[in-house]
Amino acid sequence: MKPVNVADYREAARRRLPKVLFDYIDGGAYAEWTLAENVEALKRLTLRQRVLRDVSKLKFRTELFGQELSMPVALAPVGYAGMNARRGEVQAARAAKAAGVPFCLSTVGLCSIGEVAKAVAPPWFQLYMIRDRGLMDELLATAREAGCPALLFTVDLPVPGVRYRDARNTAIATTFAEHARQAMDGLSHPAWLWDVQVNGGPHCMGNLASATQGLNNLGAYWGWVGRNFDPSVTWKDIDWVRERWPGPLVIKGILDAEDAREARAFGADGVVVSNHGGRQLDGAPASITALPAIADAVGGDMKVLMDGGIRSGLDVLKALALGADACLIGRAWVFALGARGEAGVTHVLNLMRQELRLAMSLTGCLDVADAGPELLA
Ligand SMILES: Cc1cc2nc3c(=O)[nH]c(=O)nc-3n(C[C@H](O)[C@H](O)[C@H](O)COP(=O)(O)O)c2cc1C
Repeated sequence: MKPVNVADYREAARRRLPKVLFDYIDGGAYAEWTLAENVEALKRLTLRQRVLRDVSKLKFRTELFGQELSMPVALAPVGYAGMNARRGEVQAARAAKAAGVPFCLSTVGLCSIGEVAKAVAPPWFQLYMIRDRGLMDELLATAREAGCPALLFTVDLPVPGVRYRDARNTAIATTFAEHARQAMDGLSHPAWLWDVQVNGGPHCMGNLASATQGLNNLGAYWGWVGRNFDPSVTWKDIDWVRERWPGPLVIKGILDAEDAREARAFGADGVVVSNHGGRQLDGAPASITALPAIADAVGGDMKVLMDGGIRSGLDVLKALALGADACLIGRAWVFALGARGEAGVTHVLNLMRQELRLAMSLTGCLDVADAGPELLA
């Protein structure tokens, strides 16, 4: 059965991917309350239906950081995404380019900036603060030289969150039964095994290849993150990044209006209102709940993006109504990639556009630029 929405893609990805990979995408921190609340808080918002408003011509285009987007959506950075389909980040970037929306490559993607730039186009690049500043220097130089149009500096992962599903799935096997279960997880998903494990290499983190030799499973990767991400990072480090990054700089992982003001004071061009898809601080508010105060605080001065729980174009319109300039989608594109590769991502972006069209038509919103709180009941 062909998927017709993101929930169907989630189910298709669950079937096609090894459990360790599916849980890594699907899961969140601790009790996964924030993960669920991201979705639930969006569901609780009700759209105000309006009629007889000539909705034959709708405007979806928006401009972000000097780039024109065909709709106010971009693909969020997702680490390890390339394990879900062969050279997965390249496939997703291709789908994004064809749809006229940006693709953001994670620091810890499988494909490197160079691979994506050569195969498709220079991606937005997402940066984590790594202890080794020499490595950071190199990453920023690579992103600059490749012509990446924007840098998303993620600040909500100074330490890795605790995700029970990952902890269970990646626990070091000690008994025969545990070894067998881990081996069977891959072997019992032959389509994925052939596509990614056999034909999709190399399986290292492309942007960090020199520093991450030999990390060939999720547990090892997450251990590396814990050892190498810099918990001493502060606002002052934004200056350090700024000195090396003249282009648009976006701070990702803001949930508090005070922090959004700090980001503005440190010269950021935008923020992403985000709780990392509920993967870091369980108990933090849903992104959509945090959005209005942040948009109020800095909305006129910088771009306000939002992510967390966006599963349809209806959700996108709700976020625009509460002050977002655009939304990032995370799991929505990765489920699609895991289920059907590039075709899946293309389909999900088409679905988002159709859903956004319908939502705008039935709320009487003619232009995404005009979306405001009056769209909500
Ligand atoms: C599997 C997975 C890996 C992620 N890896 C990164 C990452 O490497 N860098 C980053 O800034 N955010 C990362 N995120 C967070 C996303 O960029 C985004 O904030 C989040 O997925 C939005 O929530 P949603 O999945 O509900 O759309 C990751 C999210 C998921 C689900």
